[in-house]
Amino acid sequence: MRNGTISSGIVGSGVREGPQDCAFAPCGSSDRYRAADALLLESPDAGPREKQQVATELTPDQKRQLFRDGYIVIRNAVPQELVDRGRARIAAAKKGESLAQAEALTDLVNKSSVTPILNEAMGQFDPPSMVHVGVTKQSAPRDHFTPLGYREKDLPYFGHGMHAEGLFTVAPPQERVTGTHEEIYQRMIASGPRGDIGRTADVIGSNTDPLFQDPDMTLSVGSFTAFCIVALNDQTVEGVGQTAVVPGGHRVLEAFYRWQLETSGKVGPEGPGWPRFDYNAPNGAGHIYLPDAVQEKLIALDDEAPECTPDGRAWPRPTQIKMEPGDCAITIFQMPHTGTRNEFGTESRKNMIFRIRNKSRQPDKVVTGVSDHPDRGMMGEWLEYEDGNDPWARSKRALTNMWEEWEGMQQVVAEETPKLDPIDYSHVA
Ligand SMILES: [Fe+2]
Repeated sequence: MRNGTISSGIVGSGVREGPQDCAFAPCGSSDRYRAADALLLESPDAGPREKQQVATELTPDQKRQLFRDGYIVIRNAVPQELVDRGRARIAAAKKGESLAQAEALTDLVNKSSVTPILNEAMGQFDPPSMVHVGVTKQSAPRDHFTPLGYREKDLPYFGHGMHAEGLFTVAPPQERVTGTHEEIYQRMIASGPRGDIGRTADVIGSNTDPLFQDPDMTLSVGSFTAFCIVALNDQTVEGVGQTAVVPGGHRVLEAFYRWQLETSGKVGPEGPGWPRFDYNAPNGAGHIYLPDAVQEKLIALDDEAPECTPDGRAWPRPTQIKMEPGDCAITIFQMPHTGTRNEFGTESRKNMIFRIRNKSRQPDKVVTGVSDHPDRGMMGEWLEYEDGNDPWARSKRALTNMWEEWEGMQQVVAEETPKLDPIDYSHVA
């Protein structure tokens, strides 16, 4: 589970539906669709000569959608045969068995059109050797406190836990904590797997994310380039545990990271405008997964009034990503996202989640597909970098220039960026 958190989605989080989930047209009507760029995939029901062409790159319209919304759903990106094999592997798992390295699951990216599509739109990346198996069992609203510091049943949007990816998370206290803010802070950061070692960059959370990525404690968010989320069950009806996102929210978060960097050189929690914990949350120690200034702008993106927790606090409305088995959602890293409660499902929600980084960020390092902080080892180990290679500077650059690592998006970015209004955070203290 990522981000410790919640369970699912992209960090245990859930997610929502895309207003214009885009389908890959199986026909060749687009002038960008070329037979030479197509995979020939055999349908299990078809004879050897009956092969179906599957597009292997995004059309210009799909790229504009990805640029605007920050995510896109590719219909039927994974053939039925691979979906069936993946589902069968999950069904055959023994109790407690990890499927993180199951080839039947990594094949969903490595042997489908997802790889050529991403190669074209983003660039080269390490074929995932591991997967985050995002299985969310059906459940009614529950009483426990989530990492946001609220009871799950009290959070709107199916118990959302919307967050920026790559953040330190520890187990949420299940009774209201007491003490000064400083005392609570120290207890929280000491509750991870390394215990009380003070406030240093060696501290990691129960989700294995470092408190700070860099030794100088100027970067507190891990980063990669893209999420790929392959659905293995029907998620076309709302409330079955979908991953959810805020369309357009990627720009809001990127702009905040840039404002932080320009203001102070720091990016992430404990940088300007972003305290680590919410001491006013019902349990007295919620994680602040998105700063208030970002939450306000996300709410403003929505025409509908936001829903609130019982304390009157408004929360940005996420859109559930509705998918059918074999569909793949691709989102940019900066997309605020969440898992959601599988309240109405007739089976567990099954999203196979891959964390992809453009190889150019760190060509010598191998990314497995599960870590949200690949500049460090999975358990926060320090990695070796050659002289002149500052991984923290590279990641700050990527966080604040989010399309730079999307090599096949550059024309769309150049055409569309001048049309956008700037996002201003100068009012933030
Ligand atoms: Fe996440």
